Amino acid sequence: MTTPDLPYLNLREMEVAAAGVLSPAALAYYVGGANDEVTLRANRAGYAALHLRPRMLVDVSGIDLSTTVLGLPLAFPVGIAPCALHGLVHPEAEVATARAAATLGSLMTLSTLSHRSLEDVAQAAPDAWWFQLYLYRDREVSRALIQRAEAAGARALVLTVDAPYLGRREAIIRTPVHVAPGTVLPNVGPRTPGSEGTDDLSYFNTLLDPSLSWADLVWLRAQTTLPVILKGLLTAEDAALAAEHGCHVWVSNHGGRQLDTAVTALDALPEIVDAVAGHAEIYLDGGVTRGTDVLKALALGANAVFVARPALYGLALGGEAGVRHTLALLRDELRLAMALCGQTRIGDLGPELIFRS
Ligand code: LAC
Repeated sequence: MTTPDLPYLNLREMEVAAAGVLSPAALAYYVGGANDEVTLRANRAGYAALHLRPRMLVDVSGIDLSTTVLGLPLAFPVGIAPCALHGLVHPEAEVATARAAATLGSLMTLSTLSHRSLEDVAQAAPDAWWFQLYLYRDREVSRALIQRAEAAGARALVLTVDAPYLGRREAIIRTPVHVAPGTVLPNVGPRTPGSEGTDDLSYFNTLLDPSLSWADLVWLRAQTTLPVILKGLLTAEDAALAAEHGCHVWVSNHGGRQLDTAVTALDALPEIVDAVAGHAEIYLDGGVTRGTDVLKALALGANAVFVARPALYGLALGGEAGVRHTLALLRDELRLAMALCGQTRIGDLGPELIFRS
């Protein structure tokens, strides 16, 4: 169980090392959360506060980490969550991330706000990527993106629903993000005239449609035959509505970057599982840095777990090999955690693994 690509022993070490190589704007953008970063910290603290109930004297000489998400086989239940602008940390950007995910049998979710086109990512990870969508005020632009994603082989659309407006991230108010001059972000298109001086996130914010509501899901589902996953749900009520609209559920507080003091995905997961398990698949992100974190989310009913910042830190430190390192650490830690809990198959994990005081 070794992960030989880079010298880092865990994701925390990678985060510290990445902070030393990222540009000030990239650091502000990726590391920061909204407002006082209460939710950002709670995302991690939640995992540490949850204790495991391991079983002993089980033959754990063979452990199977494989699973499926929406019918797509994964070698282990960890994918890459959408995160913007991989080109801020590495010239190969999303293509390197996608290759790393595909090589290890993981899954890449490509952000709308990417440096590289979805066609490039499709080539790097054929059949093993999802496309994250923001619905733009200009629905024709969104419709064209959906058609491109479908034509390029995306296996699902992940609609982000927790960002009618981007959250207040004070670090990037101080140190704004500007992509290299002349860069046209391929899923965003050329800047509208007059917006050239605006930083990229503020500009992107103006494209998002704050009027988005459940009625728009009917429109979205009519545009595509792909499965639709709603990312950013935190309540049983919304998860039930998602399932009623034929959508799957991605439990997330956007890495603590949107509503500060929002509930953590880990805390929201049980009520969401109660509401929709068996009717919709359920994924989760936010604060996952250890294999035991993955194990806890799966035990509480997530079908798979996603990481964003740790993948970006890997990308910053070693390009494709760095992202492989991130994923391999989580995979190998998960395998060991399962062994020490007396568990051999992902499908057998259940809430009895979690200690409730
Ligand atoms: C963010 C958006 C773009 O978190 O998803 O920055």
